[in-house]
Amino acid sequence: MKITMVKKELADGQPCDKCKQAEDLLKQRGLWERIDEVVWAVEGKPESPGFVLAQEYNIKIAPFFLVEDDEGKMSVYRSTLQFIKKTFSDEPKRFKVESTSETPNWEALEEEFRGRSPQDVIQWALTRFGEDCAIAFSGAEDVVLIDMAAQTGLPFSVFCLDTGRLHPETYEYLEKVRNRYKIKLQIMTPNSEALQTFVQEKGLFSFFEDGHKECCGVRKVEPLRRALSGYRAWISGQRKDQSPTRSELLVIHKDEAFEGVDASPLTKMNPLTDWSSSQVWEYILKNHVPYNPLHQKGFRSIGCEPCTRPTLPGEHERAGRWWWEDATKRECGLHIASDE
Ligand code: ADX
Ligand code: SF4
Repeated sequence: MKITMVKKELADGQPCDKCKQAEDLLKQRGLWERIDEVVWAVEGKPESPGFVLAQEYNIKIAPFFLVEDDEGKMSVYRSTLQFIKKTFSDEPKRFKVESTSETPNWEALEEEFRGRSPQDVIQWALTRFGEDCAIAFSGAEDVVLIDMAAQTGLPFSVFCLDTGRLHPETYEYLEKVRNRYKIKLQIMTPNSEALQTFVQEKGLFSFFEDGHKECCGVRKVEPLRRALSGYRAWISGQRKDQSPTRSELLVIHKDEAFEGVDASPLTKMNPLTDWSSSQVWEYILKNHVPYNPLHQKGFRSIGCEPCTRPTLPGEHERAGRWWWEDATKRECGLHIASDE
């Protein structure tokens, strides 16, 4: 097999941005050394070898890839991801996940990763923990994390807390994400006995009377505790600017509220800590990442159906969550350390 990558050189001598991104992606996946030849299409020089190839294969974008198999059959790819998928899908995974049980030095890690891109944090997390690291998935931020994790080609886990009270749109959306990324989505349901006792005693809407803590405790926090007891690390989509309760959010820290496998300390990561909502949406739209259709109906932060309402223009993005309660109490206990 011979692989040729055609890249575009801009007038200033630099490769185009898309070519740089493609090269980074190949490097991240350990595939860069598999490119046998790089051919340049030099801006303003139609006679340069890359442009000649582009013309021959009737291609107008860079980069593109030519793969000649051992029988001389040529395949052409305009998308880097398609190229990777079709060319290397049969090969065993080449990535190495470090299997170390050493306790991480969270303070040093926070120092190292503060200000770095979410992709860098995810790359580190999955290299270090692989499937022992789970993304907690429910909303727009989390699917960005899943998309970034999928790009690394490294193994990872994903779980969702199904409270039994999510919107129908959210259930359909979970399924869409599961199919799109071909992930094994671990769906955590509440402990049936605890739930039965709770609803028997307090009914289905007690949170409007005495606050959401008890219901969230049964439907979210206990299932989260159970889910996390199977991992060594987890990743959440929290952002600092979401709430006054999240203003001190770290990128990497020890989870003080929950424990991992065999009661071991858990590493918690918030790679989008410093991102704004617009950055999240820019990423979603640019990368055609699926999103919950409720976002088109005025919902911004989405939780359970009875406890979430659309926000009005000018309202804060979490104003529609537990709106009958004080803004400083609007955490459900998933992120207890940042709740205090
Ligand atoms: S909440 O604590 O108020 O419900 P929010 O909706 O802002 O949280 O989400 C913050 C992060 O918590 C999400 O990015 C996600 O990682 C995690 N999370 C929230 N709800 C769920 C859920 N139902 N299942 C899995 N993870 C969740
Ligand atoms: Fe219960 Fe509302 Fe919490 Fe969902 S968000 S678990 S319905 S209190």
